[in-house]
Amino acid sequence: MASPTAPLTIERACNLRALNSFGLPAVAHTLVRIRGDADVRRVLDHPELGRAPKLVLGGGSNLVLTRDPRAVVLRVEVAGRRLVETRDDAWIVEFGAGESWHDAVAWTLDQGWPGLENLGLIPGTVGATPVQNIGAYGIELADRFDALDAVDLITGRSVTLDARACNFGYRDSVFKQGGFGGLAGKSLITRVRLRLPRPWQPVRGYLDLERRLAETGQHDPDARAIFDAVCAVRRAKLPDPAVLGNAGSFFKNPVVSAEQCRDITGRDPHLVHYPMPDGQFKLAAGWLIDACGWKGKSIGGAGVYERQALVLVNRGSATGAEVLTLARAIQESVYGRFGIRLEPEPVVV
Ligand code: EPU
Repeated sequence: MASPTAPLTIERACNLRALNSFGLPAVAHTLVRIRGDADVRRVLDHPELGRAPKLVLGGGSNLVLTRDPRAVVLRVEVAGRRLVETRDDAWIVEFGAGESWHDAVAWTLDQGWPGLENLGLIPGTVGATPVQNIGAYGIELADRFDALDAVDLITGRSVTLDARACNFGYRDSVFKQGGFGGLAGKSLITRVRLRLPRPWQPVRGYLDLERRLAETGQHDPDARAIFDAVCAVRRAKLPDPAVLGNAGSFFKNPVVSAEQCRDITGRDPHLVHYPMPDGQFKLAAGWLIDACGWKGKSIGGAGVYERQALVLVNRGSATGAEVLTLARAIQESVYGRFGIRLEPEPVVV
């Protein structure tokens, strides 16, 4: 944590292109690097910055910047990783919100604390993972979550939130929810504690992952082998943001009633759909977009990735406006053909 006497690092006219994984152009009039709770309080006490609106920026991997933010950008760089506790039923590990998520996963495996292997190679920082409740290959962050520390952006008070308080849903949490009780834009996550269950049990069953494990002859894989398989599947299917700007899946997979699902499969028997415990069905948005012929298409510098239609990419010179125009065109054609409204996953500024 930053020493309470260290000066606040305030930057002006800061180019955000390298700070968002889409590589979209935007300039922050003011950017402050946050290295601990005390830095947040110093921003709040600052005569110029204290009352200004704030935009919390982690790895910028779930963000579409359509303009220069009017808010003061708080770039979270809280460092640190430690084992908090070894219990009979779990290891509890803690990370500073500014740590790279993928490095955090790899570190826990190196230490002999498995449990996060299915979530390898997800871009972004640890602090962003509860915000959208990241998930992949059968696990969501909520399944491994213990608690987090955050600072209230109005009062400056440090608080600890458990899973219940985070109100996790599919790619959703209290940090994305507005209105009464929601915390969107109201708090800055500084540390996250994860609960890795003992004894370890592999989470298997996801088709792509099983295929990869079978191909490499891994019939009884350990956590490291699952991690390697997950990383290989992701590398084959998803663009590396360092090479081709993107924000992962651009839309959530829509959830529909059994009746609506039957209606669509009646016309399109190949529709990829998964039953949910409550009797509804989750549809593969990538399949819907692909079926509308969008794969590989572009509008301006924004495009639909050739190998996964759910991922929008920056072909080099895209603006946020072009990304949104493309996203709207996709939404319209999916609605026109299937009667389903796709909901964007990233935060749009
Ligand atoms: N599909 C197509 N065409 C496409 C894309 C997908 O037909 O262009 C089909 C696939 O063949 C597959 C199905 O759709 O049968 C699902 O595709 P995939 O396995 O790639 O998973 P997804 O539902 O598109 C979700 C998450 C990903 C996560 C993967 C693996 C969401 C919004 N996305 O993608 O998360 O990595 O499952 O668990 O839930 C992210 O959130 O940024 C993200 C990458």
